[in-house]
Amino acid sequence: MNFLPGKRVLLGVTGGIAAYKSAELTRLLVKAGADVRVVMTDGAKAFVTPLTYQALSGNPVHHELLDETAEAGMGHIELAKWADRILIAPASANFIARLRQGMASDLLSTLCLASSAPILVAPAMNQQMWSNAQTQENVASLEQRGIHILGPDIGDQACGDFGAGRMLEPADLLQHLNLSFSSQLLGGLNVMITAGPTREAIDAVRFISNRSSGKMGFAIASAAREAGANVTLVTGPVSLQTPEGITRINVETAEQMGQCVLDQLADQHILIGSAAVADYVPSNSFQGKLKKSSQQLSIELTPTLDIMREVGGMTDRPFTVGFAAETDNIKTYAQEKRRSKNMDMIAANQVGVPESGFEVDTNSLDIYWANGEQHLALAHKTKIARQLVEVISRQYRENQGDNA
Ligand code: C5P
Repeated sequence: MNFLPGKRVLLGVTGGIAAYKSAELTRLLVKAGADVRVVMTDGAKAFVTPLTYQALSGNPVHHELLDETAEAGMGHIELAKWADRILIAPASANFIARLRQGMASDLLSTLCLASSAPILVAPAMNQQMWSNAQTQENVASLEQRGIHILGPDIGDQACGDFGAGRMLEPADLLQHLNLSFSSQLLGGLNVMITAGPTREAIDAVRFISNRSSGKMGFAIASAAREAGANVTLVTGPVSLQTPEGITRINVETAEQMGQCVLDQLADQHILIGSAAVADYVPSNSFQGKLKKSSQQLSIELTPTLDIMREVGGMTDRPFTVGFAAETDNIKTYAQEKRRSKNMDMIAANQVGVPESGFEVDTNSLDIYWANGEQHLALAHKTKIARQLVEVISRQYRENQGDNA
């Protein structure tokens, strides 16, 4: 479906040979019905003339920050407010670094700071520059701030090298941009997400908990919000900021989390259980602080309520998505867990894989449902969360269709 007619797209072109491909991108955007304004950096003008973009977009091209005539017409603040999306293609290593630093040293970087529109960045550079640790750090930081990084592709480069750094093809960029407008994927739906660990008291100062940082659950909450959902985030103790536009409920124990979920379940269309809920709670929590002694100490544990299982057993329940941490035989165990808890989907982490799972900023997931599966390759949790939300929304709609 084409969401682009009437959409106001600010296309930022920075200095790189791929700038010539953005002429084609401009043409495709206009053809798809978008209203396109092109902003060029000085570097970009060394590759393609503003006249090319002016002719293709049908609008004057902007390039000066302090230009009296431009400011008298659509000045930089108006332009920043005008945009529904900012797409920077190609984005040079230099521009990415400036964006990361929050510089306002030219028109395009200033617009990025002054606009509340979602920003999409299509890197294009030599493979060595792309794999440079500094560039990778810059890109990771942008992703963390919610900026969408599109590509780059792997292949032959203009400089004769081969590797990652080619700008995505104009048709691919068009598709990504279009998809970013379709992100009302969960529009109007109530989505509840559990996140983080729980804490089960041993005594007044000690507790049983786990390594969950809550990062995955918080990223899913942001992605679901971005996709138009009304999000309730029920979280155990974590040190993370609440994403904008989300209702956050803080809980500590598995029992509190369970109570909170069950209390509000009737209003939810989708429940995503990403919390690492404690499976056991000390049978008796000691009053005050347990005194140290040389004697052995045993703590008896009682199973907690399995929230997802409880929800799965209800006749009128929301679409439920659980998580599983597995060390081996992921598919078999994850599908078994999904079926036994009667969940619609399960997202499995492989435990012990570097850069994946607890505490770190990246993850990879294998998602399973009754008659399908999808692998999400290792990426920043922001990106994984957006992909997961896409899969969930697709399966949710399919499921609604089946139940209609
Ligand atoms: O069985 P296991 O604990 O591995 O299942 C993990 C899934 O079950 C996660 O979605 C987790 O949030 C959920 N869970 C729960 N209540 C518990 C334990 C786990 O909802 N007490």
